[in-house]
Amino acid sequence: MPPDPGSMPEESRLRMDEWPILHTRRLLLRRFRPEDAATVQALAGDRDIASTTATIPHPYEDGVAEAWIATHDQAFRDGKSVILAITLPPTGELIGATGLEICTEHRRAELGYWVGKPYWNNGYCTEAAGAMLEYGFEVLGLDRIFAHHFTRNPASGRVMQKLNMKHEGHMREHLLKWGVREDLEIYGILRTDPRPKPNLIHP
Ligand SMILES: CC(C)(COP(=O)(O)OP(=O)(O)OC[C@H]1O[C@@H](n2cnc3c(N)ncnc32)[C@H](O)[C@@H]1OP(=O)(O)O)[C@@H](O)C(=O)NCCC(=O)NCCS
Repeated sequence: MPPDPGSMPEESRLRMDEWPILHTRRLLLRRFRPEDAATVQALAGDRDIASTTATIPHPYEDGVAEAWIATHDQAFRDGKSVILAITLPPTGELIGATGLEICTEHRRAELGYWVGKPYWNNGYCTEAAGAMLEYGFEVLGLDRIFAHHFTRNPASGRVMQKLNMKHEGHMREHLLKWGVREDLEIYGILRTDPRPKPNLIHP
């Protein structure tokens, strides 16, 4: 059952009344639209994106992206998640996704992200995920944000380190992915921890 905001104490409520638009130095993060589905399918359909994520299917069948995007608004209104498209101004080219899966009761969230392979290693994920941390702490009022990555995916670990997230543990054989048991690393950051200089621009 989603939490009923009306029955929650004031201090537990998160500000999730309006979809955010986040501006960073090079990126614009906005909610997904139905017309993004073809690009999502093309980018997330790369085997190398599915390989190091827990839930992205491969092959990425027709209709999956549309169905995924269609879940976003209700999940946001229920205070369960906020998932944003990472885009490049001024063309608006969609390059990836980042999101927070929220646990309202404990004022914490799990950070997730993927960036299309043609755009890797330009610092885009770090910039987008940094904006999500800022939004999570400063707008939603979260106290803790954590993230996992497959141990065999050091690029994602590097993103977490660049965001000043702390390595909190190694989870042995935590996931079964494509029939193989996978070790995970867990990172976390608290509201009170130092964060890299905020890169959110308030237009
Ligand atoms: C993980 C991912 C989101 C990173 O996106 P990105 O935009 O390339 O990330 P950034 O450019 O901000 O940072 C990547 C960092 O990893 C480093 N890196 C890349 N490949 C690496 C490797 N094999 N070993 C160590 N570091 C690596 C880059 O050099 C860079 O660090 P630097 O800035 O210190 O040089 C992207 O690779 C991706 O979408 N992968 C598939 C999906 C996925 O794994 N999502 C995360 C699930 S936890």
